[in-house]
Amino acid sequence: MTTSRATSRVLTGITTSGTPHLGNYVGSIRPSVRASLAAGVESFYFLADYHALIKIDDPARIQRSTLEIAASWLAAGLDPARVAFYRQSDIPEIPELSWLLTCMAPKGLLNRAHAYKASVDKNLATQADPDADINAGLFMYPVLMAADIVLFNAHKVPVGRDQIQHIEMARDIAQRFNHVYGEHFVLPEAVIEESVATLPGLDGRKMSKSYDNTIPLFAPRAELRKLIAGIKTDSRAPGEPKDPEGSALFEIYQAFASAEETTALRQAYADGIAWGDAKQLLFERIDREVAPMRETYQRYMDNPGEVQDILLAGAAKARQTATPLIAKLRHAVGLRDLRAQGTQKAAKTAKVALPLFKQYRESDGKFHFKLVDAQGRLLLQSNGFDSPKDAGHTIRQLQDHGVVAFGTELHPAEGVSVDDVAQALELIRDAQ
Ligand code: TRP
Repeated sequence: MTTSRATSRVLTGITTSGTPHLGNYVGSIRPSVRASLAAGVESFYFLADYHALIKIDDPARIQRSTLEIAASWLAAGLDPARVAFYRQSDIPEIPELSWLLTCMAPKGLLNRAHAYKASVDKNLATQADPDADINAGLFMYPVLMAADIVLFNAHKVPVGRDQIQHIEMARDIAQRFNHVYGEHFVLPEAVIEESVATLPGLDGRKMSKSYDNTIPLFAPRAELRKLIAGIKTDSRAPGEPKDPEGSALFEIYQAFASAEETTALRQAYADGIAWGDAKQLLFERIDREVAPMRETYQRYMDNPGEVQDILLAGAAKARQTATPLIAKLRHAVGLRDLRAQGTQKAAKTAKVALPLFKQYRESDGKFHFKLVDAQGRLLLQSNGFDSPKDAGHTIRQLQDHGVVAFGTELHPAEGVSVDDVAQALELIRDAQ
């Protein structure tokens, strides 16, 4: 509703349930860090530790994984000054919104979530009770994830294919909320990076913690070498030509190498390179990219207080967006200052001095407006509009629909609550 949004918001979360491996790096950490450097993008990256609790009841493991993942992102070059980098559990607005969305989420929709359904199907297959060993957190997983996303009105959510359904559910739930309570949320879209490789693991299947076939991203050099030596290959002898097709070793190499390096390895395969030598090449190539980051990683791991401070600062930054929005949402659903009702009546009977919209033009040529109360106190200040017509349109929306018409960029002035603005708008509307 304001002129134009210069930036697009990108948000993604990573569940703090394990130690980052090369697959996480290639599939998520590296592309996200690169994307965060693009111009015109506002990025939100967070550690989904509430989500981790659904699967893990080992507190030490949650804590360790949170530190390891945060340190990995920082070591990979995530700049906390450029992005909002935070821990989900440091944002109390997330669980609060999660409840508001829970009450808008059709239970039938959640019944159809793949992750929940897979667990039910597993129980059915063993003739157990359908919900045996399934906690309600798993069932509510998509709603918590929707809250993560729409709290920041993210446009784009880079995720793996397995998460597409969750983004669609977030859209459905947000849309329903918008329909019932007014336009509050941007409807997010999943971004699937086609070009990003899914890395095979040691046994050739997708590298995944659940297959126990991973190579930790920051394994010490000696361990990295040993793990790479264990990558499954076929039994072709040195001198025999080898097939890059279906070779896990080749695929992993490709994810790190330049086009020329990849061509060179392809040739070496054709020329019959020994597996041992190919593994040595892979080890050196990965180590070349990882070694400088490993040092930074270790420094963060040795200084958890530094990571903690970075995350807390990130949470404070994220809450600058979250806190005003949750105030609007609370008002929208009726969790309001009880005095707000009284003024409506009083305004009808008594002739009270009214709040006022004032339009003006700034030196930059843009058209602005502000809302002041009868005492002249600033309640609301708009951004710049290209034309007086655009500004006027927004004013009319506010007059007709109250704070529900707030876009994502209109916030109450410093020290003013959403309820104050809502009251003022109601006074104006009643007087019309
Ligand atoms: N569910 C995601 C995963 O396991 C992690 C996640 C939690 C997430 N909240 C999110 C991803 C919000 C994107 C946006 O991969």
